[in-house]
Amino acid sequence: MRIVTFGVGYVGLVTGTGLAELGHEVLCIDIDPAKIRALEDGVIPIYEPGLPDLVRRNVRSSRLKFSSTMVAPFEESDFYFIAVGTPSADDGSADLRAVMSATDDIARLAKKGGIVVVKSTVPVGTGDEVQARLNEKRPGVFEVASNPEFLKEGAAVNDFFRPDRIVIGTRSDRARQSLRALYKPLQLSGERFVVTDPRSAELIKYASNTMLAIRVSFMNELSRLCEASGADIHSVRLGMGTDTRIGNRFLYAGPGYGGSCFPKDVKALIQLGKKYNLPLLLSDAAERANEAQGDFLIELLEKRLGDLSGKTIALWGLAFKPETDDIRDSPALRLAKDLIARGAKVRGHDPEGGPNFKKAVPEVTVTDREYDAVDGAEAVVLVTEWRSYRVPNFVELKKRMKAGPEGGLLFDARNVWNGAEIQEEGFRYQGIGVGKVRPTDASSRALV
Ligand SMILES: NC(=O)c1ccc[n+]([C@@H]2O[C@H](COP(=O)([O-])OP(=O)(O)OC[C@H]3O[C@@H](n4cnc5c(N)ncnc54)[C@H](O)[C@@H]3O)[C@@H](O)[C@H]2O)c1
Repeated sequence: MRIVTFGVGYVGLVTGTGLAELGHEVLCIDIDPAKIRALEDGVIPIYEPGLPDLVRRNVRSSRLKFSSTMVAPFEESDFYFIAVGTPSADDGSADLRAVMSATDDIARLAKKGGIVVVKSTVPVGTGDEVQARLNEKRPGVFEVASNPEFLKEGAAVNDFFRPDRIVIGTRSDRARQSLRALYKPLQLSGERFVVTDPRSAELIKYASNTMLAIRVSFMNELSRLCEASGADIHSVRLGMGTDTRIGNRFLYAGPGYGGSCFPKDVKALIQLGKKYNLPLLLSDAAERANEAQGDFLIELLEKRLGDLSGKTIALWGLAFKPETDDIRDSPALRLAKDLIARGAKVRGHDPEGGPNFKKAVPEVTVTDREYDAVDGAEAVVLVTEWRSYRVPNFVELKKRMKAGPEGGLLFDARNVWNGAEIQEEGFRYQGIGVGKVRPTDASSRALV
């Protein structure tokens, strides 16, 4: 098959490369010339484990190409995948300008009819809008399918080849059959298709992300209640998660959800509700609880350090989660801005996200090595649980932190450190909803 993908971001590049790996001829298009130039020079513009090798192999075999526009012979493709960004507009709804612009490019440049696959996360009704737009310009030439993406940054390559599900929403028999055939090699370990209408497919994506955001927000809310009441979120999680109806995944308290999807998708779902005059109370609450968790981090820091003005705080982990360089809406971004607004000096480190973070918040001193970030800091906040932060070097921390008689503050916003050990090493410890730390606490997390 011949395939064009629009957008070489986290979704477009993984999808295009994955399809090339399955033996198809793929052209990845992006309007950002710098990204295309980088890819042509063999440089991958994002950090995604396993992707560089896969890109290199498929470029070498001439199955994968990059361009700023549709070039021959790709004007005669079987599939046109739209994987461009759909960021939040000012009112929180999804900004669809890139999707519509890619749609117009397809209508203008494709020489033969094909299947247009909307992979971007888009509100209910967008597929129908794309179909109507194409029909207006080129009647009866294109068939549209919604095929939302569920990959997780940091595990995107694996998610492409081993998806939990492949959702296909279309009114066209040909599009349905063609997509089933295209994705057939990914079905080796069992049926993965959820085949439905376009509107349901579009809603499945928002519903999935918002469900996860609600779980996270609920656990964060409970962590605040634990902190206030003296309960321990580790034990609460263990007790809840062992109920098979609840399950133990996505049940961690932390600094609040972030990233390029959850915040914008929850907002877009709320706006979609408004469009249909239907207040989405739970989604709204998830968002407010997430905001409150950001405030909670500052409250805890102020409780332990007093006035933050003039104090140096080090942030370990700037990307929104480990194994990505994506800092969009990362909890560290919000925390850094809140700290700076209170007059604190912020230093930070991230194994991959440092350069992106520095661009977004130039006031933060971003260091190449984690222990350099700690120099002169009264507190180190573990914001993103990269593996390299999991076993801190206490000797190095003591040497570099500025500590009063009670020791420097190690604030574990992911609850991955052993609080008792930290206290034994002569530091002050703060977790999220773990109250008073007892020596047995650390083991309860390991049980689930
Ligand atoms: N990142 C994720 O983890 C993830 C997971 C599932 C779904 N999604 C959804 O997939 C979509 C893409 O997300 P992403 O993270 O890959 O975005 P991204 O911002 O990383 O990449 C989008 C790319 O599209 C390009 N672009 C914009 N307009 C274009 C046009 N008209 N033609 C060609 N290229 C154009 C941009 O230059 C950019 O490189 C979004 O709707 C997102 O919600 C993302």
